[in-house]
Amino acid sequence: MRHLLGIETLRPDQITVLLDLADDYVRLNRSPAKHGQALAGLTQINMFFEASTRTQASFEIAGMRLGADVMSMPMQASSIKKGETLIDTALTLNAMHPDLLVVRHPHSGAVALLAEKVNCAVINAGDGRHEHPTQALLDALTIRRTKGRLHRLTVAICGDIAHSRVARSNILLLGRMESRIRLIGPPTLIPAGAADWGVEVFHDMRAGLKNADVVMMLRLQKERMDGAFIPSAREYYHRYGLDAEKLAHAAPDAIVMHPGPMNRGVEIDGTIADDINRSVIQEQVEMGVAVRMAAMDLLARNLRGRPAVVSA
Ligand code: CP
Repeated sequence: MRHLLGIETLRPDQITVLLDLADDYVRLNRSPAKHGQALAGLTQINMFFEASTRTQASFEIAGMRLGADVMSMPMQASSIKKGETLIDTALTLNAMHPDLLVVRHPHSGAVALLAEKVNCAVINAGDGRHEHPTQALLDALTIRRTKGRLHRLTVAICGDIAHSRVARSNILLLGRMESRIRLIGPPTLIPAGAADWGVEVFHDMRAGLKNADVVMMLRLQKERMDGAFIPSAREYYHRYGLDAEKLAHAAPDAIVMHPGPMNRGVEIDGTIADDINRSVIQEQVEMGVAVRMAAMDLLARNLRGRPAVVSA
């Protein structure tokens, strides 16, 4: 595996190897030692052209815990502001011999384009509405640790599917691992061709949640809506916000997930988000560090010319 640009190119066995290694890193992160050497001597540069809390922080922590030299470019203060292009910026950084570039960009496909121009490994930290592979991997790890498996689970992904790279990567990953996927949302926020993706589509929240094992909530991604109609928060919450009454339609032991950032009182009730018996939202954040450590470890093995555990 030279780059990690999306779930689309990963096979089920590769996903399993990565999740198994991430499980090891969960144990390391919970130990007093916390540190490994898998990235010792390597340079990791994080380039976030879009806002982030969880992804950027966890990539930084993951790199530091594995011994990399980590630098996060302050993109808002970079020469991008003076008109330098994405590719020229990438070529400039490439000339400094980094080993790993972690890139988030508002345009779908921008990270793959950049990966063609540099010598180092590139990880997609979210590109437009296309993919967010490490989010799907950390979601899968959270589900697997909570439910004990990924196959034959009913996973309801609810909300703004149309603008969500998280939904797209999760549909690819969970479908590949033989979960049953339901998409729930208003017709305007579910892509027209979604029924052809091997998923079930619901516009009624209660019908879609019936006996679901996993309830994954998404926020309205207004930054990608390009002037389209946006329902009022009140109206949206009434029909599609997850509250106790709607959650009661899911399986009694259903878990509640959210990739963050959350808008409480819009797509999810705050008491549901904070309910430690149902919500695994904080576990998702924890798994994010472990999954990013595993992804960078596997890419580093390939960089060092060792037989890669995972080969693409
Ligand atoms: N889930 C996620 O990508 O969160 P951030 O935007 O905070 O990184």
